Amino acid sequence: MIEQKIRSEVRDIIDFPKDGIVFKDITPILKNPALCTEIVEEFVTRVAHLKIDAIVGIESRGFLFGMLLANRLQKPFIPVRKEGKLPYKSIKTVCDLEYGTAVLEIHQDAFPAGSKVLLHDDLLATGGTISAAVDLIQQLGGNVVACSFLISLNFLDGKKLIEEDLQKECIVLL
Ligand code: PRP
Ligand code: ADE
Repeated sequence: MIEQKIRSEVRDIIDFPKDGIVFKDITPILKNPALCTEIVEEFVTRVAHLKIDAIVGIESRGFLFGMLLANRLQKPFIPVRKEGKLPYKSIKTVCDLEYGTAVLEIHQDAFPAGSKVLLHDDLLATGGTISAAVDLIQQLGGNVVACSFLISLNFLDGKKLIEEDLQKECIVLL
C-alpha cells in the first residue's frame, strides 16, 4: 500500500528545527522517482471527483508535489509564498505554525474569482498554515474544494480543523 511505502521513506529528525519537534523529512521520497509517480497518481485518483480548476501549493515543500500534480492534470499551479518573495501585486495574511509564525502571500491575479481550487501542502501539523492559505484564496474569490497532504500529524488537530471548522474535504496519504 502507498501508505506503507511513504511511511518507510519518511525520516524522523528529532529536535529539528527546535527542541521537542520531531521533524518529518520527506527528502528520501524525492530520491525515489517510482514512489513520486505513485504519489502523484494516488492524488489524481483522490481528486478526480472534484473537477478542480487550479492547484495552489504552499512554499516550499508544497511546491514539490503540488507542481507535479498540476502538471499531470494539466491545470495551473499557483504558489503561496512567504513574505516578500512574490514579484507582482500580492495580498497577505499571518499564520501560526507548529514551531513559529509566518506571513503568507499570493498574487492578486492568481486565478479567476469562482475557481475551484485544490490547496496542497506536504504536511499538516496544527493547520495554521493551511487555514491562512484558505483565507488568502477566499479573499480572491476562490472556492477551496479540498486540501491535500502527503502526511498528517495525527497527534495535532489539523484534520479536524479542516473538516469541522473550515468545512473542507481533507485528503491525506499518510
Ligand atoms: C511546514 C509544512 C507546512 C507547515 C505545516 O512548512 O511544509 O507548510 O509547516 O505546519 P502547520 O500545520 O502547523 O501550519 P514550513 O513552515 O516548515 O516551511 P517549508 O515548507 O518551507 O520548510
Ligand atoms: N511542519 C510543521 N511541523 C512539522 C514537522 N513535525 N515535520 C515536518 N514539517 C513540519
